[in-house]
Amino acid sequence: MSERSPTDELRAEHDVALAKMDSLADAVARLQRSEADRSTDVGEGVGARAAELQQALVLHFRKEEEGLFPDVLSVVSRGAPRVDILSHFFGGEADDDLKAHALLRGRLTDVQGLLDEAAQAEQLDRAAAARLDTLVGLTKDLLGRHAKKEHELVFPMIERLLDESQMAAVRERMRKISEAQ
Ligand SMILES: [Fe+2]
Ligand SMILES: [Fe+2]
Repeated sequence: MSERSPTDELRAEHDVALAKMDSLADAVARLQRSEADRSTDVGEGVGARAAELQQALVLHFRKEEEGLFPDVLSVVSRGAPRVDILSHFFGGEADDDLKAHALLRGRLTDVQGLLDEAAQAEQLDRAAAARLDTLVGLTKDLLGRHAKKEHELVFPMIERLLDESQMAAVRERMRKISEAQ
């Protein structure tokens, strides 16, 4: 049985992260509607979901940033046989990707900040719950758009640029990054 390609592995991780994001957004929406004590839910439901999502995305971004993009950029810069007109745009796309990662990391840190404040105050008032809901909604949109762009544009480019042995080297590096996590 042939091994899964690195880009398929990353696609599968998007599906997992998007499902975790949905689960966090649902929990926050429930929290916002709740009339009961919101502080318990913050710790047990929302906090755990936010932490799980953050953990999954931190690893996923590292696999792209350290495991995948350096190889593709080096292939593009050497002008390998597979390089075609699309490859001229890859540097720009990789830059956009890194910016989106930084933005998403920032949003997730903001979510964590709101949750930490609520944990310290031992309550999450209605206004803070509404802020959390807005922030999680924005983060969800951003993640959805980012994953869609990689599926439709960035990964197909990479699949045209890297040959089988280069893909195997990427897979190996991504495996080491996962193991070291
Ligand atoms: Fe990405
Ligand atoms: Fe990704």
